[in-house]
Order: sequence, then C-alpha cells, then structure tokens
Amino acid sequence: MSRKRHSFYSCLPLLAATLVTGAVPVAAQEGGPIPRSPGLPYAPKNLPDRIVLTPGADPAREMAVAFRTDAKQATAEAQLAISVDGPTLEEKARSIAGTTMPVDSSYGPALYHQVRFTDLAPDTVYTYRVKGAAGWSEWYQFRTADAEAKPFRFLYLGDIQNGILTYASRVIRQAFHANGDIRLVVHAGDLVAQRDDLDHDDEWGEWNQAGGYNYAIVPQVPATGNHEYVDVLKADGSESRKLGPYWPAQFALPANGADPVKATTYYTDYQGVRFIVLDGTAAIDLGSMKAQTDWLDATLASSKANWNVVLFHQPVFTCARPNDTAEIKAAWKPVFEKRKVDLVLQGHDHCYSRLTAEAGRDTGIKARADGKVQGPVYLVSVTGSKMYALNDRAGTQPDKVAEATELYQIVDVEPKRLKFRTFTASGKLYDGFDLERTTQGNTLSEISEPTIAARRCSGDVGPDGGRCVARGK
Ligand SMILES: [Fe+2]
Repeated sequence: MSRKRHSFYSCLPLLAATLVTGAVPVAAQEGGPIPRSPGLPYAPKNLPDRIVLTPGADPAREMAVAFRTDAKQATAEAQLAISVDGPTLEEKARSIAGTTMPVDSSYGPALYHQVRFTDLAPDTVYTYRVKGAAGWSEWYQFRTADAEAKPFRFLYLGDIQNGILTYASRVIRQAFHANGDIRLVVHAGDLVAQRDDLDHDDEWGEWNQAGGYNYAIVPQVPATGNHEYVDVLKADGSESRKLGPYWPAQFALPANGADPVKATTYYTDYQGVRFIVLDGTAAIDLGSMKAQTDWLDATLASSKANWNVVLFHQPVFTCARPNDTAEIKAAWKPVFEKRKVDLVLQGHDHCYSRLTAEAGRDTGIKARADGKVQGPVYLVSVTGSKMYALNDRAGTQPDKVAEATELYQIVDVEPKRLKFRTFTASGKLYDGFDLERTTQGNTLSEISEPTIAARRCSGDVGPDGGRCVARGK
C-alpha cells in the first residue's frame, strides 16, 4: 500500500475533459501530471509485444499466452509446434485462434490477445509465435511440465511496482542470468503501481521490458496486489475498487479459482508442487474472503502434491506496519496450519522477512532444536525501489529481515527437499533454508553457505552507506 495520489475523485475533471475532447489523458493531479516513460516508447505497434506465457491448471498439458498489438490486428492468432532443431518450425506448426479484447491507453487504442495451448505432451519443448498486422513475432520456446513430481526451480519476486524499469529490471535479469532453467516465476502482487508513480500504460510497458523475453518463455504465476485495483465511485457515492483493465488482458490465467474472483484466484500443479494464488484485496475489501477461504481449504484438501505453496499480496505477518493483516491472519492462517502449507509467499511490505514462528525467532530455534516439525514458513520480499522501514518486531519475530534491499528468491524443489535461497539485487546470497519432508512433517535447517551481513538502515544511513531510502509505514 502506498500514498494515494490518484483517486477516482481527483480524476473526475480529467475524465470529463477527456470525454469532451477525446484527448489522451495526461492527468493533472495533486503533485502534478503523472510522469510518462522517457521518450514515450510504449505505443502499440504492428508487431506483437507484451508477450507473457502463463501455465494452465495442468502445465504438463496446457499453457497460454497473452500479447498486445495495435488495432490493425483484429484477431488473436498463434502458431505452435513441437520444437525441432533446424529452422523449419513453420512446417509442422498448427494455427490456433484465441480471444481479443480492447484496452484503451495513453498511447491510444490497443488490442490484447490471448491464445490457449491445450492437449500438450508433458515434458516436451514447444515453440510458438504470435501475430501482428505486419507479421509474426520471433519463435519463443517453452517446456511443458513433467506429468510426475520431478525436481525444478522457480523464482519468487516481491513487489516490482516502483522503479520498474529503472531499478527492478536488473533484479529480474540478475535472477535469470545467475540461475539457469528457472521453470516458473511467481509474483506476490503489486507488479505495477497503478498510476501511483507513472502513467498506467507506461508501467505495463516497463514491466514487460523489465522481464523481456523471459516472460514469453517461462510461465508466469502472478498474484494481484492492491495496486492492481483502481478506485471506482459507486451509485451511492461511496468509493470502492475494481480490478484494473490490464490484469485480465495481460494474463491468460487458468480461471479455476474461487467464485466470484476467478480472474485473480487460481491454482496450478507443477511437478509435485501445487501453487495456490489468492487475492487479498478482493478478500479484504470486496467481500470474497469467505469464498476464497472455502476454496483455499478445498483446494488444499484435494491436493496430491508433495508441496503446497500459497501466494498472495498482503502478508499475514508484517515486517513494516504496526499491525498484521488481521482479516487474512484470522481467515487463512488456520487453514495454512490445518492443511500443512509449506510456503506462504507474500509482498506488500517492501521489506524482507522470513518468519518461522509467530512467537519469535528464538522460539522457532528452540522448537527446531527440540525436534518439532516446522509449520508454514512465511516470506515477504520486494523487488522494486520503494522501501519501507522495518517495524519494532522485526528484530525479534522473523528469523531474518532486510531493509532498503532489492531481492529475488530462487527455490529448488525436489520430491522430499525444498531449498529456498534469497539473493540481493547484485546476486549476493542473503538468506536461505532447506525444508525436508518427513512422515511427521517438515524439518527446517539453516543453510551452511555463507550469507552477507544483515542489511538495515542505521539512522539516516542506509545499508550501502548512502542515505536510508526506507520510510516508516
Ligand atoms: Fe506494494
């Protein structure tokens, strides 16, 4: 959550002006016009861009792609083939049609297209390309998941949201360069700031540029944050929120989640891990808490996976705010414990926290020394440039914290072991633990690899010796 610079009400004069003149909205608002990306580089073109691959519920057999074109490409067209090693991919490619939806932006009208790739063979390398009015994209290549539990690696990113291209891009690229064969990327919400800092369409342009072709070849598993929602005025004059227009356009998600939030809740089973994605904003603010809680419980109950990982935005345990997210803590934490969730991946707090015992780090250490099994491990992380100061509990409750630090997390999954490693933006190992699955439950062990010193501000001085950029929440 952040300062609310751009509410619906502040937009009303602008909205009226736009309707009358048809002008491209460069909003006047408190604090001046919304900044644009330098050079206005993100107009839709006659070739596809913003190409993002997403998994189906069963990514051994289904993937999907979303992409953007200008208005001249009126239909969603893709070609798909099993990959071969010579430059003859077209010969055995089949054409697949999809759906198209318009999204008006500051650059003018654009079309987002989505195509689903179904009936795929497990553990098989496919190539695909997508079409714009002037021709095809390059061929992109992905591997379907194996149908069985099999070791794989995934990347977990916290809020990208601010400084998306300027700062967050290097973190994403470092993660991919330093760690081969990432098979899935999970995003814990607030992928963009929804015009908090930057024009909305520019934000999505920057988000796509930051990840680049990695988003087209590695399936993305995004959760919504509060910043994926926009303010709306209800008939009775009260203010509410609704999902922003880019989310359902940019991500072709499985839609197998909780009614009535199937656009933002879903699960996917990847090689022995069930990833369950929840929508904290809709749960807290829009009345779907019970529906999501019931669906979460049922989806965990039916899981045959070795590991269950839950992904959402607003953290159960906060590292920046005075109070935990009470509604989510009351509703979901008991389900995580009852159903023995392994990892809870979150964002929102713009700091880092790994928490293994609500009663505090020392209690967790003693419990492990006494041979107690480990319950859900709660993570909070941040990728982009906005930073919050650690709260008072951060010194004693989590096992490890960081302040004013951009991070990424690499998780290596095996049938009986899960290796979680946290790296700083420049690739230094910051935190890590291993979970081992036993018949009694998980055991957690700290890693023996050397990690760098704890990163916190000291007064006005940040952990890199410059100014402290973390601000109090
Ligand atoms: Fe955020």
